[in-house]
Amino acid sequence: MTSSGTSAASPVLVGSGLMKSFGLTRALAGVEVSLSAGESLAVMGPSGSGKSTLLHCLAGIERPDEGQVLLAGERIDQMGEPERSELRRTRFGFVFQSGQLLPELPADENVALPLMLGGMPRRQAVRKAREWFAPLGLEGKEDRRPGRLSGGQAQRVAIARALVCGPQVIFADEPTGALDQTTGMEVISLLVGITRSQGAALVVVTHDENVARWCDRTVRVRDGRPSEDHRTPDGAAVTHAVAYAAEAAGLAGRSTPARPAGDEGHAGYRR
Ligand SMILES: Nc1ncnc2c1ncn2[C@@H]1O[C@H](COP(=O)(O)OP(=O)(O)OP(=O)(O)O)[C@@H](O)[C@H]1O
Ligand SMILES: [Mg+2]
Repeated sequence: MTSSGTSAASPVLVGSGLMKSFGLTRALAGVEVSLSAGESLAVMGPSGSGKSTLLHCLAGIERPDEGQVLLAGERIDQMGEPERSELRRTRFGFVFQSGQLLPELPADENVALPLMLGGMPRRQAVRKAREWFAPLGLEGKEDRRPGRLSGGQAQRVAIARALVCGPQVIFADEPTGALDQTTGMEVISLLVGITRSQGAALVVVTHDENVARWCDRTVRVRDGRPSEDHRTPDGAAVTHAVAYAAEAAGLAGRSTPARPAGDEGHAGYRR
C-alpha cells in the first residue's frame, strides 16, 4: 500500500513493513499503510487474508512481529501493554460488528463508559455522552438498554461511544456486517461523515463494496499483502450517495421501506 495521492499533511497513522505470524500462519507479510486526519480507508480482502490482524496491529491491540506503527509520529508498537491500553482508550475509538454494548446499561451510559473509565464523574460523563445522540439520530433513545434498540440504532450508539473521547483514529471491523443493506448504508454514511467532521481518521474493514465506496480509499489485502490501493473518485462517491438516497427513498423500484421517520437528521453527513 502506498500513500500516493494522500494530502500533503503529515499522516496521523502509519504502518510500515508490518509482519505478523500466528504459529506457522503468516497473517501479515509486509504491509504499508498511511492515513491522514479526516481520511477514511476501507480494507477489503477474502476471509483470512489478514484484515483484522492489520486493524489490530494499527490499533495497538496486537504487536507486529516486525515493522512499525506510528501515531502522529510516535512509535506505538514499542509501547508496553499499559501504555497501549491507555492509548486505545483515549486516542482511538472502536466499532465492531455487534455485541459491543453492555446489555445492563442504558444507551447513554454505554456511550459515557470511556469517559467514566477515564475518571470523569458519572453525571458529567452522561451529559457529554448525550450530546452525541442528536447528531446520530438517536434522540429519545438515551434510556434504552441495548436489547431494546434495533441493530442500526445499536451501531449508532457504538459509533457515539467510539467518538466520545475525541479520538484521532476510529477503527471499525465489519461495522455493517450484522445489518441489512439499507441499515448498513445508514450506518456507514454516518460513520464516515461524522468521523470526517471531527477530523479523525477512519479504518473500516469490510466485505461490502458498497461500504468501501463511502471511504476515500480502499486497500485490498490478499495473503497478508496489499494487492491494490485505490482512491475513490470524488464523482463516484457522489453518484453512490445519490443512488443510495434514491434507493432508500424507494425510487429505485425496490420494495425497501423508506428510511425510518426521525432519521432525516443524518443528511448533513452524506458525502
Ligand atoms: N489469534 C490468532 N491465533 C491464531 N491464528 C490467527 C489469530 N488471528 C488470526 N489468525 C490467522 O491469521 C490469518 C488472518 O486472520 P484475520 O483474522 O486477520 O483475517 P480476516 O481477513 O480478518 O478474515 P475474516 O474476513 O474472516 O474476518 C488467518 O489465517 C487466521 O486464521
Ligand atoms: Mg476479520
